[in-house]
Amino acid sequence: MTYKVTLIPGDGIGPEVAKAARKVIDAAGVDIEWEVHPAGGDVINRYGTPLPQETIDSIRNTKLALKGPIGTPIGGGFSSVNVELRRRFKLYANFRPAKSIKGVASRYADVDLIVIRENTEGLYSGLEHFVVPGVVESQRIITQEASERIIRAAFKIAKRFKRKKVTVVHKANILKLSDGLFLEIAREIARENPDIIYEESIVDATAMKLVMDPSQFDVLVMENLFGDIISDLTSGLIGGLGVAPSANLGVDCAIFEAVHGSAPDIAGKGVANPTALILSGALMLFHIGENKAYQNIYKAVSKVIGDGKHTTSDLGGNASTMEYVEALVKEIGKKS
Ligand code: NAI
Repeated sequence: MTYKVTLIPGDGIGPEVAKAARKVIDAAGVDIEWEVHPAGGDVINRYGTPLPQETIDSIRNTKLALKGPIGTPIGGGFSSVNVELRRRFKLYANFRPAKSIKGVASRYADVDLIVIRENTEGLYSGLEHFVVPGVVESQRIITQEASERIIRAAFKIAKRFKRKKVTVVHKANILKLSDGLFLEIAREIARENPDIIYEESIVDATAMKLVMDPSQFDVLVMENLFGDIISDLTSGLIGGLGVAPSANLGVDCAIFEAVHGSAPDIAGKGVANPTALILSGALMLFHIGENKAYQNIYKAVSKVIGDGKHTTSDLGGNASTMEYVEALVKEIGKKS
């Protein structure tokens, strides 16, 4: 079977890590027809927008995209392409696995967590205004519809990844109405899924418990801002953003991307670590049912990084992006 996938190289280190990810995914033996389309600040002069129509049309058609990082100017300038893609394709669930990779220096050796973050509401609804000069109000929106959708997604993902437990992270002791509603819905959905252990954990205590002993958690699901913070914490537990993949899942589209940004400080030098985007591509393969290719990529990454001979400088090695990729391709070749 041939799959069509939109590939957005992005900017900064984006084109380098996108090229690397494409090479590794192709080596895993899945037949992919890549539709390469631009997005980002660099394309505004040519297309009059950072998100060209051809890119949107391609994603609408393929329903799957692998996206390199795209820089967003702070303050003025154009608005975030990343946020616009999530909004336009209704990508309501951000899915971030945090799995230890041997050879990546980190606090724990055996972390294996999945964080699922609601992507569309909470404090990110953009509803902010001055009440009177010097007083700003930001509204935190929690709806029954979005809460139900994200909690159902969490249970579904838990089952697909053969996980045992879902923990709902909340602050319902203080936010009694909004997080009270979130919990009420979660309890109802938990009753429909008796094969999965259900737990609740207050967000601040969760942060502490994750740092003290991450093995007490499995799948964690939460609203937008809590998810933003907790998923960065879990990325830190496995050695940082350079190795953290993610997926943005919608009703009929999914966009896979690294957690890190466009790293303008190292762009064009050929030294970026492409692991996060490669693993995001592997997640994409799992998403479309190519489980063997997904496993092979994960195993190759663990082996090559674990051996330590071909790692990039952020992991303490001195290999270039492409030297690392060649080592991965060779390793994958041994398995197929
Ligand atoms: P960043 O993640 O781009 O970089 C932070 C630090 O980590 C830098 O020192 C960078 O060199 C290093 N780094 C990041 N990825 C790396 C990799 N793959 N290999 C080796 N080193 C790596 O974060 P920063 O500097 O805050 O953001 C830069 C731009 O990226 C901003 O415009 C931001 O808006 C954008 N961004 C885009 C995202 C996306 O497209 N999803 C996500 C996060 C930020």
